Amino acid sequence: MKMRLSVRLLSSVVQKRPFYITTPIFYVNAAPHLGHLYSAVVADAIQRFEKLLNPDCNVIFSTGTDEHGTKVQQAAAKANLPLQEYCNNISKEYRDLFRDFEVDYTDYVRTTEDRHKKAVRHFWRKLVKNDYIYKAKYSGWYSVNDEAFVPETHTKDEITEDGKVKVSIESGHRVEWTEETNYMFRLSAFKTHLQEWLKTDGVIQPNKFQKQLQEFLSSSTYFPDISVSRPSSRVHWAIRVPDDEEQSVYVWLDALVNYLTVTGYPDEDVMKTRRAWPPDVHVVGKDILKFHGIYWPAFLMAAKWHPPRRIVCHSHWTVDGNKMSKSLGNVVSPGTVPATSALRYMLLREATMADDANYSETKLINIANSELADTLGNLTSRATGAALNPRGEFPALHTHELAECMSKHVTADLLDRLDRLPDICHQHYTNYQFYKVVDSVIHVLHLTNLFFETMKPWDLKKKSECQKELDVILHITLETLRICSIILQPIIPGMANKLLDKLQIPKDSRYWQHCEKPSWRVQGSIFETKNIQSGKFVLFQRIYADKKKMQKKIASG
Ligand code: MSP
Repeated sequence: MKMRLSVRLLSSVVQKRPFYITTPIFYVNAAPHLGHLYSAVVADAIQRFEKLLNPDCNVIFSTGTDEHGTKVQQAAAKANLPLQEYCNNISKEYRDLFRDFEVDYTDYVRTTEDRHKKAVRHFWRKLVKNDYIYKAKYSGWYSVNDEAFVPETHTKDEITEDGKVKVSIESGHRVEWTEETNYMFRLSAFKTHLQEWLKTDGVIQPNKFQKQLQEFLSSSTYFPDISVSRPSSRVHWAIRVPDDEEQSVYVWLDALVNYLTVTGYPDEDVMKTRRAWPPDVHVVGKDILKFHGIYWPAFLMAAKWHPPRRIVCHSHWTVDGNKMSKSLGNVVSPGTVPATSALRYMLLREATMADDANYSETKLINIANSELADTLGNLTSRATGAALNPRGEFPALHTHELAECMSKHVTADLLDRLDRLPDICHQHYTNYQFYKVVDSVIHVLHLTNLFFETMKPWDLKKKSECQKELDVILHITLETLRICSIILQPIIPGMANKLLDKLQIPKDSRYWQHCEKPSWRVQGSIFETKNIQSGKFVLFQRIYADKKKMQKKIASG
């Protein structure tokens, strides 16, 4: 009895810690747009790659909504809805968005939930107890839009319809002179600690953003404490400061604590069981890097918690060359683009982390048609369709015909590239370079199409004595598609799995290890003919520009 108990205890102690990854929590002051979706799909692709590599790994993937503050107050008033109802509606829009775009989170946290409020109050008390919070009179330029005070040196004058106004240089949002009593956080005490932390190799990815933070710290001779509360009279939709109803917790402090809430904080027993802290990856956009790369680690150090292991920072999406904004009327709502099913692909296929990317409808349609419909979809339909593959098979390999086929240039090129593909893509995934993963896969698929065209399987089909040669061509093509689909799962999970289903690849044979070697490299294995799923296969329905125009015409009546 005693022994069994200790074995049980031991197994929970040695259980591997989970992989904990987060998205920012999204403001509910407006409906989700393309940029928000991007933060979420980047995080989702990272966690899917992790699971692909380590099937046994327990992933905690958290997302959610940031529901307090002036902006939300204003938005609810404008929508003429009670605050909580307004928040519920937009929070649900985010959940729906994530369902539609295959963002497979495990935890959804809302800052209006009791568990979160409890975490924030506890965290606040900890900062007070450790003497990092004090009360002071504060005055400065405040941006409601950014929910932040902006140093005078970071503002500029601008002439608008309302006359001369001050705006934040960084965000372009208007700032107003504000004087109030606040609680302050001793950020200044952490400058050296932050500089040390920022020396950690790869702690902020890509390196460009790590350098930016380092330069920000080394160049600022003035590194002041920050205000972490607002008068409740002004910001009433907020968590009250413990033991002081007059003050509300600053929305950014409130929001950042969500990452702790998910781990069970402040219940240390739950935290010990989950073993999630510190997070492995926070995914953030460049506009909120300072909050995550300066404020958050400082708050954590003050509360005696480890800072995150890594922050992956991405750049922004512009639309037809412009910043997305309500006033320009160019905000792209993910549900309204043509080819929604290709949008996730395009977001990950086009953008690099370090530089802004540009969205246009034409680009989306072109990419979807040429890569998903033609290069990947069409090849699959041909290799599995009744004309060339009437028995619906993933045919066996015939050694002699395989050797013959391999002696041809076009085959050798393809197989050589296919051999190297998994390693190359592994490296790109590890560097969060999704566009390079797709580039490499598409290159192999172009070679496969070329191989297919050159080998003319339709001619072989006409001659019964050439069945074995035809089998080899089909086998090589289907094997390439299998490998490419496994690799593409983090980018287009739905489509990749549809393709793997078509090839009848068992669910437990879709991990990274299963893409590392093509069948002809697996020593001693005999690949026998297997059945594939019957029926016509369409991976992605091509979009015709005319049809799109017609659809638009119908919609506009
Ligand atoms: N609520 C804060 C985050 C708190 S996390 C403790 C917030 N929310 S947000 O809704 O404004 O932004 C969420 C994410 O969307 C951020 O990562 C932001 O960078 C991203 N994007 C918003 N617009 C964007 C683009 N135009 N392009 C790419 N991503 C951008 O900030």
